[in-house]
Amino acid sequence: MTSVIAKKTRGEAAVATVPLFVYGATGMLGGELLRLLELHPAFAPTAVSRKAGSLAESQPHVQGATAFTNVEAAETELAAALERGPAAVALSLPHGESGEFVKRLRASLGAKFDELVLVDLAADFRLADPELYRATYKHAHPCVDELSGFAYGLPEFHRARIASSRRTAAAGCFATALQLAVVPAARAGLLDVNVPWILHGVTGSSGSGAEPKPGTHHPYRHGNLWAYSLDGHRHEAELAQALGGASTKPAKLHFVAHSGPFTRGIHLTCALPLARPLATAEARAVYAQCFAGEPFVEVLEAGVPDLRRIAGSNRAALGLNVRGDVLTVLCTLDNLVKGGAGQALQCLNLMFGFPETWGLPRSGLGVA
Ligand SMILES: NC(=O)c1ccc[n+]([C@@H]2O[C@H](COP(=O)([O-])OP(=O)(O)OC[C@H]3O[C@@H](n4cnc5c(N)ncnc54)[C@H](OP(=O)(O)O)[C@@H]3O)[C@@H](O)[C@H]2O)c1
Repeated sequence: MTSVIAKKTRGEAAVATVPLFVYGATGMLGGELLRLLELHPAFAPTAVSRKAGSLAESQPHVQGATAFTNVEAAETELAAALERGPAAVALSLPHGESGEFVKRLRASLGAKFDELVLVDLAADFRLADPELYRATYKHAHPCVDELSGFAYGLPEFHRARIASSRRTAAAGCFATALQLAVVPAARAGLLDVNVPWILHGVTGSSGSGAEPKPGTHHPYRHGNLWAYSLDGHRHEAELAQALGGASTKPAKLHFVAHSGPFTRGIHLTCALPLARPLATAEARAVYAQCFAGEPFVEVLEAGVPDLRRIAGSNRAALGLNVRGDVLTVLCTLDNLVKGGAGQALQCLNLMFGFPETWGLPRSGLGVA
């Protein structure tokens, strides 16, 4: 954790104190992070891109920064900022590229790199085992030397480690929903580990990034639904890592993802086999206790979580039901906020010792 104390709080005159360089600023999460940062009382963002030009062209919703800083200029500015005091970087880049940029920053900043606070929004530093990374992402890990320095960025389960780190790998979008939905029951020993756990998730088109692709083209996506990664979704590895030992991990995790006809949000349905008879109220009490005091996790007393409830917010909503020997856990969250940029900002707040909720909306948009 750095020793920086923000000099302003909500309501006081706006003087930002910590430079934050957002790489991949033309991207989907880059744009979302820049949006959230407008209301952050301590971070002063710089939008870093490989492209030149006006921020308004690719991120017309963002006010504040007006142009991109290119990667070379950002390194010079970052070095100067670190001479003056604390500074931070958020890497919102494709997996594989993030690791390359971490190496590049270490080379260009020298000893000052160790003082930099960095959050990676890609997958490069989420899995502790580089061989598991290779098997999951089908290429060698780009930056093994830095791997052990990264905390896993899911504050609800790793708050202390994040707060004492200068490097965090923000958890993946589906991976966040999967862990919030499954880990409490697994840790409480409620689940039968001898049979597969069937997990089913639907994501909006913003999960596919800003570049137009056949799968995000409106006429094909709208009014349509399809499954993908039937042979295993990458985020299963993050859930397996979180579940740890044999007593909490099933013989088989079976997660199937779907592309849904909406822009923001993830809807997850987990059919979890129970190890013993359980009432819905008892299951709900386990989750309520696990997330007691969490500002961004809501365990519903009744009913089901939907996308409208969470779109635009940094909240995840959980709904539970027991029928026979199956615990159904539903989870909704916004992939761009709690599943992406909001999570990264929550981690940055922790690393700087700021209130964890700064810059993060608890209320959603109402409509998405
Ligand atoms: N979208 C989501 O819901 C979501 C949620 C959680 C995590 N993530 C992860 O977060 C990262 C960013 O996701 P995104 O959806 O924002 O992706 P995106 O829209 O494709 O944006 C990524 C940005 O990275 C930069 N970039 C692209 N290719 C690059 C390359 N070869 N070298 C260097 N920079 C390159 C580009 O920005 P410039 O041209 O401006 O440099 C691009 O706009 C990904 O790793 C993704 O898996 C995404």
